[in-house]
Amino acid sequence: MKIALVTGANKGIGFEVARQLAAHDFHVFLGARNRTAGEKSARAIAGKATVVQLDVTDPESVRTAARQIDQLDVLVNNAGIIVDGDENVLTLEAETVRRTLETNTLGALRVAQAFAPALAKSGAARIVNVSSRGGQLSEMGTWSPAYCISKTALNAVTCQLAAALSDKAIAVNSACPGWVRTDMGGSNAPRSAEEGADTIVWLATDAPHSLTGKFFAERQEIPW
Ligand SMILES: NC(=O)c1ccc[n+]([C@@H]2O[C@H](COP(=O)([O-])OP(=O)(O)OC[C@H]3O[C@@H](n4cnc5c(N)ncnc54)[C@H](OP(=O)(O)O)[C@@H]3O)[C@@H](O)[C@H]2O)c1
Repeated sequence: MKIALVTGANKGIGFEVARQLAAHDFHVFLGARNRTAGEKSARAIAGKATVVQLDVTDPESVRTAARQIDQLDVLVNNAGIIVDGDENVLTLEAETVRRTLETNTLGALRVAQAFAPALAKSGAARIVNVSSRGGQLSEMGTWSPAYCISKTALNAVTCQLAAALSDKAIAVNSACPGWVRTDMGGSNAPRSAEEGADTIVWLATDAPHSLTGKFFAERQEIPW
């Protein structure tokens, strides 16, 4: 049975990705910074999920989680925050950017570094970084500057990891789920969590393994 780890999997898109991977016959490690919240979600994926306490901003938490998982086929770096919205880049507090980068960018990098040895044992592993069209340089506007900057930087992490891990047969891609009804996306978003998870799960399972170092939405490559 293949093994997957999804960060921030206690709710939202992460939980739905975990649920769909379990349906694809994966055993899924549900990463949750709050174990109780993770266990509640794991019960909904009966028998095919194990909770692992994982705060992506805490190096010790990441190291402890990595010691519990010897071999891994799929890593989905899904955990993310948005703490700015209508803020203006000209008055944005550096602390807001730092806090957002710590989770959305460095969190994903930290987890990938810690689990790279376990992924290398797979022979055909995949990392999916859950990014956002908000991070597209080609479409950059003024909305949520800290969040968008963190997702642009996450996309750079994707490219760096793809190049560094190609000789270990680990494919690394970014995916945008679209605007999705979750605590982050709000109730007005047009897409369900199921729809939002689709491209992420496709990259984690059925997409050609030769696709690496790219950015996808709706199963199509999109510009950086
Ligand atoms: N929703 C959208 O419209 C949308 C659009 C584009 C991209 N995305 C991306 O999709 C991903 C999932 O978003 P979502 O909409 O499902 O958001 P969500 O409902 O707010 O869920 C976010 C998840 O990330 C976890 N998380 C936050 N900080 C963490 C940390 N330091 N360590 C571990 N886990 C942490 C949360 O845990 P807690 O429950 O403990 O807070 C939660 O499980 C994010 O990367 C987001 O940027 C979402």
